Amino acid sequence: MDTMTQIAALAADCMHTLWPDVEGLPEAAELKGLLAVPPDPALGDYAFPCFRLAKPLRMAPPKIAESLCQAWSHDEVASVRAVNGYLNFFLNRANFAATTMAALRSAGDRYGASDIGKGKTICLDYSSINIAKRFHIGHLSTTMIGHSLKRIFDFLGYTTVGINHLGDWGTQFGKMICAYQKWGSKEEVEQGGVAALEALYVRFHAEAEKDPSLEDEGRAWFKKIEDGDEEALAIFSWFKDITLRDAARVYDILGVSFDSYAGESFYIDKMAPVIQELRDKGLLVESEGAQVVDLEEDNMPPCLIIKKDGATIYATRDITAAIYRQNTYHFDKCLYVVAYQQDLHFRQVFRVLEKMGYPWAKDCVHVAFGMVSFEGEALSTRKGKTVHLEDLLNQAVEKALAIMEEKSPNLENKETIARQVGVGAVIYTDLSNNRIKDIDFRWDRALNFDGESGPYVQYTHARCCSLLRRAAELPGAEPDWSALTDDEAQSLLRLLSRFPDVILDAADKYEPSMITRAVTDIAQAFNKYYYEHRILDGEPAQAAARIALTDATRQVIRTGLYLIGIEAPERM
Ligand code: ARG
Repeated sequence: MDTMTQIAALAADCMHTLWPDVEGLPEAAELKGLLAVPPDPALGDYAFPCFRLAKPLRMAPPKIAESLCQAWSHDEVASVRAVNGYLNFFLNRANFAATTMAALRSAGDRYGASDIGKGKTICLDYSSINIAKRFHIGHLSTTMIGHSLKRIFDFLGYTTVGINHLGDWGTQFGKMICAYQKWGSKEEVEQGGVAALEALYVRFHAEAEKDPSLEDEGRAWFKKIEDGDEEALAIFSWFKDITLRDAARVYDILGVSFDSYAGESFYIDKMAPVIQELRDKGLLVESEGAQVVDLEEDNMPPCLIIKKDGATIYATRDITAAIYRQNTYHFDKCLYVVAYQQDLHFRQVFRVLEKMGYPWAKDCVHVAFGMVSFEGEALSTRKGKTVHLEDLLNQAVEKALAIMEEKSPNLENKETIARQVGVGAVIYTDLSNNRIKDIDFRWDRALNFDGESGPYVQYTHARCCSLLRRAAELPGAEPDWSALTDDEAQSLLRLLSRFPDVILDAADKYEPSMITRAVTDIAQAFNKYYYEHRILDGEPAQAAARIALTDATRQVIRTGLYLIGIEAPERM
């Protein structure tokens, strides 16, 4: 049990002993939620607001605080003081160190893990790239937030299903085939990959300006795909292979993988029954020749289901996909990690599912995120100002390598470590802010080994590892936890003891950045400790305690980095 839980239990006990017959007093769990951390450490480590008890006890809060203060008999855990209607707790530092270290050591690399998700399934729709388009920096957030959330939920015992809902359906693929037939060559596309496909698409639009009949040809090719024409399908599925082959390189660098690649085209033959169901439930209405679900009473524009020309759209496939996922995976939550620009789309889709009578519609969540700009410049595909993710990652690795050459010229496996550091720097930046905030990517910040950055946290981890390698040569001793009562050790211990709650919170809010924050705080607290105290010197029981604290720090940083998808090299 961590100290906060312990204090809550003892305080609840204390109240119920003092006032056995009063109803409406909080139990330990509620009480734990009420404990606050005073802004000024001089006021204690935790404070309980006695206002909560004023009503059931019909007493003034300062009076309640006084009574509790007198009845408290657990100074071995914390001493108490009554201040302005608050009961303030001052931790017994040695006890706090001992309980926290015991929890850390017994859990080992499972520290912060849990089985609260046992028997529950979470579907995560993330990355969800489009065929024939290159992976640009805009895809980084969906990919990394989704990947991180998957790891977080796995760690909490959930069953997770990672889905790459490929954008592999639409009239543009007819145009691409048309362009390929006219100006493309097999070798060029095989060699050039998605970039070659993109070039064909650009050429199509340029030529179609001059010759509008091309548009009809493009449509005709798409019709062929829809009708299952063998030639069209073969080319289309080859485009898909080319795209996935290129994407696989990026996924490989990022360490990301999926359980399913069922994208939009997967639902083509599954939409008819869903459309029929919408009709049977009286939800489809005609509007200007199209079939829509009216959402006026929800203050939303109608959700288009079938266009005038009979074609289905993105939303039709998402509604079908949600039903399919529920029937297949029986999800408890289905998360869509998609940019906030698609907010309306998802609100419409979820509302339509609700209108269809699916109670699980409320378990579909749009996990939205903001935009990424690069060195202060907004990125837009239209102006041709895109940063390709693969280039960015390769550059990050190169730059990291240059820094390592300078900082640690004798390091072995420099290439591998530079890859971990460079990629880590990019991922850290992406997951360092509240996901809804826009991000500006800057090299000097991302690769600043001394600032709040991926390399800084990794470096701290490597520092812990290096200390532990040296510690292994010392004669061992039983740790004396009272050696960890100084301010710096206590600050660090406090952060470590909160880490399991941070993971729960991050899962609850779908916010990996909370873990990024936590590992950064822990790294800073450790470095402060490291500068103030000599870890390996001193008498053996003290050194053993400090080494154990170093090991716990290493473990928690490693877990935290893992949960946000960053590797933790042992040497840097
Ligand atoms: N492919 C889409 C895009 O890049 C994102 C798909 C998100 N997932 C979904 N189920 N709609 O814009």
